[in-house]
Amino acid sequence: MDALNQEADFKVYTPETVKDPDEIKMALTWKAPAGSYSHYPNLQVIGSMGAGVDHLFEDPSLPQHVRLTRVVDAKLSRDMQEFVLAQCLNHIKNLSSYAQSQEQSLWKPMEYGRAAEVTVGILGFGTLGQAVGKKLANVGFQVSGWAKSAKQVAGIKSYTEDQLDVFLESCHILVCLLPLTEDTNGILNNTLFQKLPKGSYLINVARGGHLNDEDLIQSLNSGQLSGAALDVFNIEPLSTDHPFWKRKEILITPHVASMSNAKSVAPQVIENYHRMERGEELLNVVSRDKKY
Ligand code: GLV
Repeated sequence: MDALNQEADFKVYTPETVKDPDEIKMALTWKAPAGSYSHYPNLQVIGSMGAGVDHLFEDPSLPQHVRLTRVVDAKLSRDMQEFVLAQCLNHIKNLSSYAQSQEQSLWKPMEYGRAAEVTVGILGFGTLGQAVGKKLANVGFQVSGWAKSAKQVAGIKSYTEDQLDVFLESCHILVCLLPLTEDTNGILNNTLFQKLPKGSYLINVARGGHLNDEDLIQSLNSGQLSGAALDVFNIEPLSTDHPFWKRKEILITPHVASMSNAKSVAPQVIENYHRMERGEELLNVVSRDKKY
């Protein structure tokens, strides 16, 4: 913040240090308490500090006239690529199971999968989804992607809105990278799991709100799903008595798949500030209709 204040042609405040609320034109935010933006009558832009923007729409008093942006960042994409790749390889090579065997000094070889024989479906084939898909395809996985609107990515089969069922049919691993909206809330449920091949594996790196927790447990119990890697949860931190902790088929990570890096993200924020001042189109604009 100090460095920015010294070099930049604008001032940076935290909510506690704002002296004159009229002065504030742009807000940078992550899960601000509801009503936070109403204090600034001249606010023009609210920028989410992460890729996700569901936290903005949770605030009923989000000012209607303000433009919204999010972060699209190469580092964020690379981190997500590496994380999902690690989870896919961990799953097909049984590494979590071997870590569990080791705890019991158990020598127990298992059948392993090969990337070329595994189809990974990316549910939510937007910026991050496409980056992840390309990385997995480069490593040799069969990759398909589903998004509301058609996407063209070389070597990856892309499905759209009315093709969800046929997309799901072939996914040995399903990676959720959807935005969280009214349409996608709870989409990872028994109905969807039933459409996957039996024994599929789920990776959720989007939002906890996509997943019906109870349905995941049921699908693991029935063997419809063989396991899941979950980085996000309906309530974070995950409560210590949540049944997920006790399931050996679930690999839990504490929302760390890909985290915005201030240094890497700052240039696009500064660029947007200048664009706002010049009355130009902003980078990485969020649609209020689509909510992503
Ligand atoms: C993290 O969850 C993000 O949306 O950037």
